[in-house]
Amino acid sequence: MSEKVLQYNKPSLQGILTIPGDKSVSHRSVMFGAIATGATTVEGFLLGEDCLSTIDCFQKLGVHIEVEGTNVTIQSPGIENWQEPTEVLYTGNSGTTTRLMLGILAGSPVHSVMTGDASIGKRPMRRVIDPLRQMGAQITGRAKGQYTPLAIQGTKLQAIDYQMPVASAQVKSAILLAGLRAEGTTIVRETEVSRDHTERMLRQFGAQVEVNNGVVSLEGGQILQGTHVAVPGDISSAAFFLVAGAICENSKITLENVGINPTRDGIVEVLQKMGAAMTVTPNSDTQAEPTATIQIETSTLTATTIEGDMIPRLIDEIPIIALLATQAHGRTIIKDAEELKVKETDRITAVVNELTKLGANIEATADGMVIEGPTPLHGASLQTYGDHRIGMMGAIAALITDGAVTLDDAGCIAVSYPSFFEHIEAVK
Ligand code: S3P
Repeated sequence: MSEKVLQYNKPSLQGILTIPGDKSVSHRSVMFGAIATGATTVEGFLLGEDCLSTIDCFQKLGVHIEVEGTNVTIQSPGIENWQEPTEVLYTGNSGTTTRLMLGILAGSPVHSVMTGDASIGKRPMRRVIDPLRQMGAQITGRAKGQYTPLAIQGTKLQAIDYQMPVASAQVKSAILLAGLRAEGTTIVRETEVSRDHTERMLRQFGAQVEVNNGVVSLEGGQILQGTHVAVPGDISSAAFFLVAGAICENSKITLENVGINPTRDGIVEVLQKMGAAMTVTPNSDTQAEPTATIQIETSTLTATTIEGDMIPRLIDEIPIIALLATQAHGRTIIKDAEELKVKETDRITAVVNELTKLGANIEATADGMVIEGPTPLHGASLQTYGDHRIGMMGAIAALITDGAVTLDDAGCIAVSYPSFFEHIEAVK
């Protein structure tokens, strides 16, 4: 645990930040490179702890991976030639690593055992294991396969036609990755569309995937070819500075290299709806993932309601949106977001507890929260619950508090944004 005392004295923010690589895309670049034949090169890789866990797991499977700065090279012998790991695959704090790897390992030729940290040990795995078992996967785990540690005996799989019970890109992706190795056409049906990085990257690696009205279809037996992946900046990381720019006095900051995939850009829409002074200039790039430069300045904000199919487009941004709402005029309502309860921690409880300590007027509901603003915030000692996004919410709050904010564990922020505090120093 690394305690950190933050005393910023209400700075005005100025400057330009280049947003580090997207976590979801970084994970997938290594996974796809490891499944593919030939070499894959990645630029702009996120050196966060979660993505390093993914690299470590594939190295234990005999995949050759080199990291030089934010460039990563993956040389795979091809999934057929993976080594059976002699050690447990350790996924750390990473739900994406754990769940997507289940889908990959289920149809691989190896036996493996996977586990993660205490938070991973509480996160539901049956949502992935149930459809994979329907495909023929042999997976066992604690509490009948609900929790890690998990043991996976790779085997032949059959395609599935699966209606998603919750909006989850991790579940969708695990099924599609298993579907690559299955006999027949795998179909995943989504009621609410979740992030589509897997579908985009499958195409980038030469696979054919059809997407029609929330129905994703993929023919089994397709071989992926190594390629080059340019990772966009993570809009979920940018979100902390978008909010900081809007709520700090006399501020104007520019964020470069922000991924604006339409399945992820809910935060931009919310800021626009709340009246933020923001301009989004898309880059004219031809990569699989679109990017933009976003400029934001101190804004007078109005409360809003966030619900329904908007939720999957900003699910990871809700902690920082809650902080934003404490500075907006009126009542902000966030609903249909019960998935927050099964993230790195229960983020409804965590956000409400910690913002209350800072003086916010916020109440938890069964599927979200209600925030009345604007409220001046004061210093307090906050708990991060080991959750990177709760830690960063507390640190951004510290930019507008009277008095210091203490985080019980700032180390967890390295899970997704190792340069976070350097970036605060650069603009404050
Ligand atoms: C992710 C999907 C989302 C998101 C997580 C990353 C991914 O999780 O919250 O941070 O990379 O596919 P769910 O699939 O549980 O919604």
